[in-house]
Amino acid sequence: MRRGARPAGPGEITYSSYLKLDRILSAQEPESDRLGVDAHDEMLFIVVHQTYELWFRQILHELDRVQSDFAQTPVDDWRMRRMVHSLHRVHEILKLGIAQLDVLETMTPQDFLDFRGLLSTSSGFQSLQFRLLETRLGLGSTRRLLYEGKTVDADMSEAERAAFRAAEVGPTLRGQLEAWLMRTPFVTGERYAFRTAYREAVVAMLAREREWADDVAQTDAAEALERAARAFAAIFEPNPEAGWIMSPQAVEAALFITVYRDHPALHMPNALLGALMDIDEAMALWRHRHALMVERMIGMRSGTGGSSGHDYLSRTAREHRVFSDLFRLSTYLIPRDALPELPAEIERRMGFVYAAEEKR
Ligand code: HEM
Repeated sequence: MRRGARPAGPGEITYSSYLKLDRILSAQEPESDRLGVDAHDEMLFIVVHQTYELWFRQILHELDRVQSDFAQTPVDDWRMRRMVHSLHRVHEILKLGIAQLDVLETMTPQDFLDFRGLLSTSSGFQSLQFRLLETRLGLGSTRRLLYEGKTVDADMSEAERAAFRAAEVGPTLRGQLEAWLMRTPFVTGERYAFRTAYREAVVAMLAREREWADDVAQTDAAEALERAARAFAAIFEPNPEAGWIMSPQAVEAALFITVYRDHPALHMPNALLGALMDIDEAMALWRHRHALMVERMIGMRSGTGGSSGHDYLSRTAREHRVFSDLFRLSTYLIPRDALPELPAEIERRMGFVYAAEEKR
């Protein structure tokens, strides 16, 4: 509350005045009612979509604070904890969004046909808040799929397009993550380079496994190890063809955080990476789930927004990932007992302060 502002007196705020229920509950106006068509399920269709838009609003509200916290240099522990908390909330909302499709699927394809023709060319494709959400997470126009050469802002009003373009200019959460990862301390210092230490550990681990494969004359296993050794080149000798979205330094820092996550200083950074993966996974699940529901409702017909429908949506589920680099890191993990030991100085600095002071 603004300092000095007077709180409302008894009875001045009621449940419905506070929640503006008169406005919210008068915003369901089925086209079928207006035109006198019998289509009972159009109300459900409207309510479900409106509920999504409210949740998108909440997610964007969470992102406002997360992104403002992430814009700080450095991001202090207190802000980091708050960011992880908000991202966890976003994940819970997205899970609810996936579950909500179950309710919509109680409408049969035949019931949908009662009013589908009344929707004209309107489509979820035109949801500005959904575009802002994807864009602010980090789905840039260069990675977006187009259909029929149409960009996602093609049917937007001027005001919507301005908001969308502003989100595109950024900063995006993915961009902020990358900048933050590149500032991660400990990864490379004067006397220590994680990349070198990790590469030596991988080479030693693969050599041990190769010896074992030679002993038992397992040619298949030996070939698999050769392939594994070549695959590791994607992090040790990064090049543009390696297919990472983030820069090599950012990927390296994310790997460092992941493998040494048990150290107290890395608990929150690791929780942050986990929360972003949860969100990416939930978005992909929603896209898959929505595509399946669309197939169930309209089969292979094209969408009211003009796309190929199910086919276009399934491709977005595969290709519109934002934090897939973090998932890909698992390819390059090695067992705990093969991990290179950290220099004592770094180990000490990544411990709890009181524990580190006792050790001195
Ligand atoms: C009967 C239910 C639904 C059907 C048949 C349906 C159909 C479609 C189709 C065919 C598209 C592709 C664009 C087009 O050509 O129109 C699409 C896109 C989209 N729909 Fe739905 N939809 C349904 C429910 C929902 C709901 C409940 C939401 C929640 C907000 C939603 C959000 C979206 C979004 C955000 C897109 C754009 C996806 C992208 O471009 O990545 N849809 N929908």
